[in-house]
Amino acid sequence: MAKTRTKYVCQQCAHESPGYYGRCPNCGSWGTMVETVEASRPTAAAGSRSAPTRAESPSSVTRLSDISSDGEQRIPVAIDEFSRVLGGGMVPGSLVLVGGDPGIGKSTLLLQVSTLHSSLQGRVLYVSAEESPQQIKLRAERLRVIPDDLLVLGETDMGQILAHIDTVQPSMVVIDSIQTVFVPELQSAAGSVGQVRECTSRLMQFAKRSGIPVMIVGHVTKEGTIAGPRVLEHMVDAVLYLEGDRYHQYRVLRAVKNRFGSTDEVGVFEMTDGGMQEVSNPSQAFLQERSGNASGSAVAVPLEGSRPILIEVQALTTATSFGNPRRTATGFDLNRLQMLIAVLQQRVGYSLGTHDVFINVVGGLRVGEPAVDLGVIAAVGSSHAGKPVDRHTVFIGEVGLSGELRSVSQLDRRLNEAQKLGFKRAIIPSTAYRGPTDRLSGIEVVRVSTAREAIEAGFTPSGRSV
Ligand code: TYD
Ligand code: MG
Repeated sequence: MAKTRTKYVCQQCAHESPGYYGRCPNCGSWGTMVETVEASRPTAAAGSRSAPTRAESPSSVTRLSDISSDGEQRIPVAIDEFSRVLGGGMVPGSLVLVGGDPGIGKSTLLLQVSTLHSSLQGRVLYVSAEESPQQIKLRAERLRVIPDDLLVLGETDMGQILAHIDTVQPSMVVIDSIQTVFVPELQSAAGSVGQVRECTSRLMQFAKRSGIPVMIVGHVTKEGTIAGPRVLEHMVDAVLYLEGDRYHQYRVLRAVKNRFGSTDEVGVFEMTDGGMQEVSNPSQAFLQERSGNASGSAVAVPLEGSRPILIEVQALTTATSFGNPRRTATGFDLNRLQMLIAVLQQRVGYSLGTHDVFINVVGGLRVGEPAVDLGVIAAVGSSHAGKPVDRHTVFIGEVGLSGELRSVSQLDRRLNEAQKLGFKRAIIPSTAYRGPTDRLSGIEVVRVSTAREAIEAGFTPSGRSV
């Protein structure tokens, strides 16, 4: 019987202490230390400094060159966008965390993955600790697929779950969600840091021992502070986040950690009546509702993973009626927006100090790449000047503090994507490497060196020389 001990863990920074503090001694947040009961293992736990004795440790030292790389083997996933984010399929014995806000579509997506996986690889066990098996059935009916090999288990006790997995011997396990399962040895409630960590570590041991891939669902608040995925991120092999605005139909699946692949691939889905549909041409999807010649709209080309995606940035500037001007950004970093507004004020000469500025990346996508700067500048500039930006023009470039434009990576791919979608002109930094742009045909490339020139060029209709 494992001995249990009590400790206090900060929900903000996961700092642990043997005694209670009203204020976390590590990160300084108030009221975040929560009592956690955790089973202490006699064996060397992760992070333990005590060296294991020879009897406990059957490990051996191996030459790197002697290790075979069979680990590369992957189980195909029938949903391409999902497979892409995982790095080209599921790795046997991997533990993957799928996080996201409540209601974003995690259960729907994993039910779809399970369904397809069971028809290709055999039995999948979907453990629903949150919803009843009847609710899962209703969801599956909405998805219009009821496969024979999809087994559902409504259980919250981790011991029972593992026992069932042993009997069923599935090809994949889904735990929905990690915040609702518990181990009875711990006195803390399901969802507490201790429970979440213990349940995950048991699943990890199971996955590694059996070679069966396990997907776990984790809820996260906007700040990621609840005893959820943040404490798990260190423990699992891959962390995927399903993002998007629940009031918009698009969802982006993004890898923030992946021990078996790159972390900069994204999968784009659309939430429909019949579940999550893959969006294989995201640029077209994000631009489809673009209106005619309104001011305050510009198209930028961020790179999501290895894929360029065209997005519409909308901006609205209005005179501040009271107090400090407001700046609001949806889908874009607010600090970056503040910086770009300062550039517009100081380097371009727009008097935005007395104006509220709102920007929105259409479609619910979040973009963080500096290459979008120029699109944001063009949208804000256009709204402030009350002049529409040419509809067939895209903006690519990073903006520096002195209003100068900087080159961005993989320019040719971005330009190709713009050209594919029918754009006639691209405004890019003059410093950009000439090689790729010289070979392009069908899209006019305008090189400018400052934010001011870029905005002016954007107002000129394409087809007319600037
Ligand atoms: P869900 O997968 O339950 O979200 P999560 O597990 O992340 O909490 O999905 C939540 C929303 O998705 C819910 O509001 C209903 C909607 N939905 C659809 O629009 N179409 C569908 O086919 C399904 C199954 C759900
Ligand atoms: Mg759910």
